[in-house]
Amino acid sequence: MTIRSFVRRSGRTTQGQKRALSQLWDRYVLQPDAKMTAAAIFGDDKPLHLEIGFGMGDALLEMARAHPENNYIGIEVYQPGVGHLLSLLEKYEVENVRVSTADAMQVLSMHTPLSALDAVYVYFPDPWPKKRHQKRRMIQTPFLNVLAKALRPDGVLNLATDWEHYARQMLTLLEAHPDFDNLAGSGFSSRIPQRPLTKFEQRGIKLGHGVWDLRYQRR
Ligand SMILES: C[S@@+](CC[C@H](N)C(=O)[O-])C[C@H]1O[C@@H](n2cnc3c(N)ncnc32)[C@H](O)[C@@H]1O
Repeated sequence: MTIRSFVRRSGRTTQGQKRALSQLWDRYVLQPDAKMTAAAIFGDDKPLHLEIGFGMGDALLEMARAHPENNYIGIEVYQPGVGHLLSLLEKYEVENVRVSTADAMQVLSMHTPLSALDAVYVYFPDPWPKKRHQKRRMIQTPFLNVLAKALRPDGVLNLATDWEHYARQMLTLLEAHPDFDNLAGSGFSSRIPQRPLTKFEQRGIKLGHGVWDLRYQRR
């Protein structure tokens, strides 16, 4: 049995999100088995960046608008968040973003060719703080193995979390991983350059949480 890093939250879908999900789905949302390459999805050879678990999508929107020279894929299983991002993509006429609503592990392991990605972002992944749930955490060695294959050599993995225990676990696993080099030299990174403030980060700050950033380069 494979362990999922998420539970399908139903959440409340607003009227605007419902409209976006029905009217904009075909324009922005990929088939679950779409091949993750810039050529297949965007018909060009611009660098391909992937955000996993984009939540409401504000950070992805900000990155994509700031960098029209890149293509972006966002993966998220939370439908209200997908609807929110779709309406933003339409509002700002963003053309360099597509969305997958499949499980990130499956997208990466089954539909992403070797070295297809130039950068990956995982910002504030579900922390699963209870000890008996920690096996659900996304950033574990099997996931790092598929990321290492999907990233091109020198491609960059950007992680941030507001849970110290998870941050230290990420650091330990990445330091031990043969395919990644720490761009900070050792230990945690300073705030990742141009990392947008996400909804979960804002929530963590209100709760008095710290933030830990990690930046690793594919060997
Ligand atoms: C704690 S939220 C953080 C959202 C956003 N990055 C932020 O900082 O506001 C984590 C998100 O990851 C998504 N997620 C978790 N596991 C996933 C998976 N295997 N594939 C796709 N999305 C996933 C969840 O649905 C959730 O919306």
